[in-house]
Amino acid sequence: MKMMKYFGMFILMGMMSAVMFAKTLYVGTNAEFAPFEYLEKGKITGFDIELMNALAKEMKMDIKIENMAFDGLLPALQMKKVDVVIAGMTETPERKKAVNFTKPYFKAKQVIITKKGKDIKDFQELSGKKVGVMLGFTGDAVVSDIKGAKVQRFDATYSAVMALENGKVDAVVADSEPAKKYIASYKDLSIASAKAEEEDYAIAVRKNDKVLLENLNKAMEKVKANGTYDALLKKYFK
Ligand code: ARG
Repeated sequence: MKMMKYFGMFILMGMMSAVMFAKTLYVGTNAEFAPFEYLEKGKITGFDIELMNALAKEMKMDIKIENMAFDGLLPALQMKKVDVVIAGMTETPERKKAVNFTKPYFKAKQVIITKKGKDIKDFQELSGKKVGVMLGFTGDAVVSDIKGAKVQRFDATYSAVMALENGKVDAVVADSEPAKKYIASYKDLSIASAKAEEEDYAIAVRKNDKVLLENLNKAMEKVKANGTYDALLKKYFK
């Protein structure tokens, strides 16, 4: 009987320490990118955040979200301020030199937002125009490569869209899903018909965190197989 008691206590302590010492995964994001990550009543939420929570649950980890400027995310990852970055981040050859990416979890495209009735059929037509982009986003690189385009950099998609509404720029290049979200409240803005190359969003980890990368990929397979991922797609993109 006494043995049983000790045994019980042992188990209880084990359970307590598992809860208390569940490893915390520090997650970097930039919560100005609805529907992937945004603030709702002061709390960070969105597709990426819920996906990250589901992945962490599979890995039996807790997460702590750190919100910061987009162009500070990869430096923060490398300086070990965070362990992973999930931010609707496109895996690009340039970024792959610095960090590793998980298997992609979402396909996206750059689109051009214009005033209604001023369609743009090709990105090259942005030449000679004032074009708003977000600092360090892939759209920044796309527009910076167009000869003659006058690039104007903004901190966040909503401020670039506001500049377009106020006539300060002629067009804004942004990721497809956020573009739809951020123009929803403007009746005179629309998405042009120009087509861009497809991009893959993936989660970034440090180059030497091989085990974490593998665990994230395994967890991703699980949440795709058990319906969690599809439920999130439905919730945010229906
Ligand atoms: N997909 C684009 C990129 O990788 C934009 C991502 C912006 N994400 C954000 N959370 N602000 O550059």
